[in-house]
Amino acid sequence: MWTEGYVSGIDYTHGYYPELSPVRLQLSALTAGYDVFQSTPGSVNYLELGFGQGLSVNIHAAATAGKFWATDFNPSHAANAQSMAAASGGELTALDNSFAELAARADLPAFDIIALHGIWSWVSDENRANIADIAKRQLKPGGLFYISYNVTPGWSPAMPLRHLLTQHAERSGQGAIADRINNSLDFAQQVVDAGAAYFKANPAVVERLGKIKDQNRNYLAHEYFNADWHPMPFSQTATLLEAAKLSFATSADLLDQVDAINLSADAQKILGEIPDPMLRETVRDYFVNQQFRRDIFIKGARRLPPLERMRRLQAKAFALLLGPEDRPEKVTGSLGEAALQEAVYKPVFDALASDGQSPKTIAQLHALCEGVDFNQITQALQVLAGSGAVAPAQDKPAIQSARKTTKLLNSELCRRAEASTDVNHLASPVTGAGVQVNRFEQLFLRATELKEKDAPGYVWRVLSAQGESILKDGKALEGEEENLAELRAQHDLFERKRLPVLKSLGIA
Ligand SMILES: C[S@@+](CC[C@H](N)C(=O)[O-])C[C@H]1O[C@@H](n2cnc3c(N)ncnc32)[C@H](O)[C@@H]1O
Repeated sequence: MWTEGYVSGIDYTHGYYPELSPVRLQLSALTAGYDVFQSTPGSVNYLELGFGQGLSVNIHAAATAGKFWATDFNPSHAANAQSMAAASGGELTALDNSFAELAARADLPAFDIIALHGIWSWVSDENRANIADIAKRQLKPGGLFYISYNVTPGWSPAMPLRHLLTQHAERSGQGAIADRINNSLDFAQQVVDAGAAYFKANPAVVERLGKIKDQNRNYLAHEYFNADWHPMPFSQTATLLEAAKLSFATSADLLDQVDAINLSADAQKILGEIPDPMLRETVRDYFVNQQFRRDIFIKGARRLPPLERMRRLQAKAFALLLGPEDRPEKVTGSLGEAALQEAVYKPVFDALASDGQSPKTIAQLHALCEGVDFNQITQALQVLAGSGAVAPAQDKPAIQSARKTTKLLNSELCRRAEASTDVNHLASPVTGAGVQVNRFEQLFLRATELKEKDAPGYVWRVLSAQGESILKDGKALEGEEENLAELRAQHDLFERKRLPVLKSLGIA
């Protein structure tokens, strides 16, 4: 059976993951002081393993110059990914090979980046070996390997909950997977309510069960109800990847890289005294109670001298993803909420907002922000990028060359939004990555493309033709008048606040 025990009767969600973007991966390696591939426009060779519906890899292939390859053995996932690539004309070869089949191919190029999100913990030992084998043979020296996975100790207390759910779904469930999931969740709640000692001893797991119940069933099927599900300590993953000559470099999560918001002074002291990187990362996971790691490994990691790191960072550009009045004042790290120092963040944010929110390099920001030094600007950008307020931007030729393919992909995604709520992102040629855009925003953009004069009226025609109406505060609005009034209010807000941002990002 091609599924190898992997859930296949229920499609995966259409998620977008910014950490997979080549532009962001290169930035994360650079902020941590590592030299990785130098992206000359058009030359990055990228491979994504297990792409799900393929939204991320399609956005990256449309928005970043390079050659993209990707595989997911579920043929309906591959067909969907191929249909988006056909619409955009992005340089993407989307295959339905299994990892074993891909590992056996002789026609693959050498890659600058191999990336996999949400795969490693959900496949067998054999497939983890296949993945390591692909990295060993196909990743260039100096190449970057991105991998995210469930880890202990963060997952340890809740692992028996997942066991209970899957045992129930397997042994007393009949019928469609979504029904079996619902029944197993109800059953687990009955066990909680009947006073099971395990749940009493682990109240955080009861809270988790409450949250799981609200999650999308397609997501849950793939996250929890797979035959393979193996959270493991960091050291186990790092040891398996050593066989592919990969060594751990840093977290791809830019917020994770900022110790001040994640680690107390005592924790930083203990970690600072551990020279062995494997032990240090292991101990760090205990301090932050890590559940999900997003790691960058490098084949042949090279540290940049501080001067070279600074020069490269000064040349890096950033773009705002929010409007000028939406400056965040707080950030959440493992230590909880922290206030962002206004003396640093306000000038940086205002400088990014100036001149029509055009992207600016750190060197330019330094010149614009009096009294704020290079390290403060760099850390502020790291925090703002990590929390989704800004994103690294590409250079001008790369932005130019991505305009046509992103426009075509976005047009297709906005067309699909007429009949579906699946996709919540569009591709930006400016950032080389996805930007969150909800269904109504997509339909307003579609109305503009269709040269509809009355955008709210058009959206109402699309919704009412399908018997849909707008949900407001959990209640369905009734009749044309109520729905149209809400759409007009949303459209006003869109034109005032979102459209200028989307224009600056090359999306509108
Ligand atoms: C949990 S989903 C993650 C999808 C996507 N990366 C994301 O994060 O949205 C895992 C994906 O891996 C694919 N997959 C699982 N085992 C595979 C294998 N042996 N070869 C190729 N693809 C596989 C599944 O079809 C599924 O789409």
